[in-house]
Amino acid sequence: MNEFWHIEPRFEAAVKGYFAQPPQAELELEFPVPEKDFNTAGNGASETKNLLKRLGVDSDTLRRIAVAAYEAEINVAAHSKGGIMKCLIYDDLIHIRFQDEGPGIADMDQAMIPGYSTADELVREMGFGAGLGLPNIKKNSDALHILSSANNPTTVELLIFF
Ligand SMILES: Nc1ncnc2c1ncn2[C@@H]1O[C@H](COP(=O)(O)OP(=O)(O)OP(=O)(O)O)[C@@H](O)[C@H]1O
Ligand SMILES: [Mg+2]
Repeated sequence: MNEFWHIEPRFEAAVKGYFAQPPQAELELEFPVPEKDFNTAGNGASETKNLLKRLGVDSDTLRRIAVAAYEAEINVAAHSKGGIMKCLIYDDLIHIRFQDEGPGIADMDQAMIPGYSTADELVREMGFGAGLGLPNIKKNSDALHILSSANNPTTVELLIFF
């Protein structure tokens, strides 16, 4: 298995505490992310953003959540056989987890390099494939965890504090 972790230093204790013992979420949302369906992909990110806006989350945090969730959702549609997006919402943070059906990321370090992309012709025609999604998710999240390997599912999960 290949694993990637990025945690913003000031949230290190909170993130470790959260993953050591995830509490019961206040709200849970789940969205399917079908393969190569670029009409559906992005719905989860925008519905989640709209809900959090109604709940009073500030606009900069909303923007970061929308960007990170959108990029991860598009990655599931573009690079995997499809999967699900699950949001766990708490008073002070959102945990978003993407689980797909493979084929996985063979080289995690390479995948995190800005500009690296394995996007096929169809994905590029849809305007994706600049190789900037994962770096953008990292930049906009307080914690990012990726678990994958070749010929296996990928899990991408992120935390953003309100
Ligand atoms: N869920 C996934 N399953 C398999 N491979 C993935 C997944 N997410 C990312 N990757 C791999 O990591 C690479 C880099 O992802 P990243 O999001 O940074 O760029 P991209 O999707 O290729 O282009 P962009 O996001 O700029 O449209 C992808 O090209 C792909 O090889
Ligand atoms: Mg991408």
